Amino acid sequence: MTRILFVCLGNICRSPTLEAVARGEFARAGLEVEVDSAGTAGYHVGQPPDPRAIAAGAAQGYDLSTLRARQIEIADFMRFDHILAADRANLRDLQALRAGRGSVPALFLGDAEVPDPYYGQRRDFDRVVELAREGVARLVARLRGHA
Ligand code: 4NP
Repeated sequence: MTRILFVCLGNICRSPTLEAVARGEFARAGLEVEVDSAGTAGYHVGQPPDPRAIAAGAAQGYDLSTLRARQIEIADFMRFDHILAADRANLRDLQALRAGRGSVPALFLGDAEVPDPYYGQRRDFDRVVELAREGVARLVARLRGHA
């Protein structure tokens, strides 16, 4: 089974949104993919997602409420086939952490970032859900191509 890890800074806004959208859309597509998310930082370990992220996800049919933040660990590079970063700072942190072994991290959107909504407004969280849906649709197409 393919295993995908989504990574942002705090694991309370963007990567839980990516995880929930991926879980929903992969199930809808009939794809068996294991998904998880983590943060490069440990500030929010054990906490549920930001209430604004939970609300924005719920508004488009994705349940984030049961997720809890964790920090990425070195073993994740061996456990997951794909490690997908929300933005370029996350990608740089992952590249520094990887230490030459395991999966090579990449940007979730390929050539664009999922902007950090933490200091923004609810509409910024809605935008994260939209970008999550776009990126996950591309992942579904890729995974189908490899099926
Ligand atoms: P995330 O958003 O990386 O999308 O989960 C953030 C969450 C927390 C902080 C920054 C961004 N923070 O500074 O605590």
